Amino acid sequence: VERTLTILKPDCVRKNLIGEVTKRIQEAGFKIVAMKMTKLTEDTAGGFYAVHKERPFFGELVEFMSSGPCVPMILEKENAIADFRELIGATNPEEADEGTIRADFADSVGENIVHGSDSVENGKIEANYFFAESEVVANKA
Ligand code: GTP
Ligand code: MG
Repeated sequence: VERTLTILKPDCVRKNLIGEVTKRIQEAGFKIVAMKMTKLTEDTAGGFYAVHKERPFFGELVEFMSSGPCVPMILEKENAIADFRELIGATNPEEADEGTIRADFADSVGENIVHGSDSVENGKIEANYFFAESEVVANKA
């Protein structure tokens, strides 16, 4: 089964949307196999988004991602990567399809509620960034 790494971002936690967003994720058929709450340092956030280091918004992104607690999770589902990106919608909530998580809850392209891995390869790297193998359970429920 394919895996993806998501992060319920600091805006999601601040807006008390952990439950609501997690419910949508579970109702869409994703199984949570790892989950924690953590507050990223600027270094940890910058390392996670290192591919965007040269982008003009990198400073803002790092500041936002380290601005409060967030909730990383590993999710399992057939076709998890693509299906999760469909569930969350486009990066910019103004361009996100109706009914997607970002369209419904995100305030801006910078504060857009959730992260989703963009490839199987990156999903593995990102899962390992947050979780040790011992923290990943076999969720058969
Ligand atoms: P992630 O799932 O978080 O990786 O988002 P994405 O894959 O939809 O977008 P991308 O990887 O291109 O950008 C990563 C993150 O950088 C976005 O989710 C935003 O939080 C942030 N970001 C992207 N573009 C902008 C921008 O123009 N301004 C600001 N402030 N942040 C941006
Ligand atoms: Mg991305």
